[in-house]
Amino acid sequence: MSHAGKVAVVTGAGRNIGEAIAHRLADEGAAIAVVDLDQGRADKVVADLSGKGVSAAAFVCDVSKPEQIETTVGAIHAYFGRIDILVNNVAISDNKNILDIDLATWQRTLDITLTAPFYFAKCVAHRMVEDQTSGNIVNVSSTTGYFGRGRAIAYAAAKGGVVNLTRAMAIQLADYNIRVNSVVPNKIGSPVGKDDFDPSRPIVNLRNRAGVPDDLANAVAFLVSDQSDFIVGTDLFVDGGCSVIMPGGSG
Ligand SMILES: NC(=O)c1ccc[n+]([C@@H]2O[C@H](COP(=O)([O-])OP(=O)(O)OC[C@H]3O[C@@H](n4cnc5c(N)ncnc54)[C@H](O)[C@@H]3O)[C@@H](O)[C@H]2O)c1
Repeated sequence: MSHAGKVAVVTGAGRNIGEAIAHRLADEGAAIAVVDLDQGRADKVVADLSGKGVSAAAFVCDVSKPEQIETTVGAIHAYFGRIDILVNNVAISDNKNILDIDLATWQRTLDITLTAPFYFAKCVAHRMVEDQTSGNIVNVSSTTGYFGRGRAIAYAAAKGGVVNLTRAMAIQLADYNIRVNSVVPNKIGSPVGKDDFDPSRPIVNLRNRAGVPDDLANAVAFLVSDQSDFIVGTDLFVDGGCSVIMPGGSG
């Protein structure tokens, strides 16, 4: 797969899954806009990419702030001159139960995990349409968007929203030659919001191993390539098959 000459924007590219996606698209020729709240993380990823000879720049942005998204998309477009690929990767989890979550935590989780992907895509899609760019947008969802979960309530609702947002975006942007898809991870590297991988984290899937960020990066690289030209509005599960196992096991 070649992304030579393309410009890819990866949100939350400062570590883990986003970082791996940024490196993978860069290795296939794309210039990379590294978007993250954390300046230090973003700068480090840009330094690593630049060290490989990749054209990359850091854009510090809090995606919970729509005005920062507008400014960031404008700055990326001004810097690179075009945007071909957007990977909406940032999310936070509330890690709460319905009985103990407060409204502010609910709202912040939805702002970052659901509203930000919508608004980032809206701002980028405007640029793609104006430039007549055949673009690709990938939203990073989660198996938690399909199943309830004891440990998170706002995150589960937001990720369910990301799944159907993807379908609606795919329909509404199809006439502009912009393809929209989602990837659906489960237990990839460290948990959302954490830096460290816990080897004792229970893993139940058909591959008998934890997912690694490169598993997601491979899927994203495929979905934004010409090889997936006939794939639109789909949810590509990257979960080791855990979602097909009935409660009680696969036997
Ligand atoms: N890790 C998993 O096991 C797993 C499982 C299912 C889905 N996912 C999804 O994959 C994606 C990436 O997960 P991860 O585990 O790599 O996340 P992570 O928490 O390790 O990294 C997220 C990055 O986003 C940045 N960020 C956080 N808030 C931000 C904000 N308001 N504005 C801009 N940047 C911000 C952080 O600085 C960090 O660099 C998320 O959408 C997550 O829901 C992950």
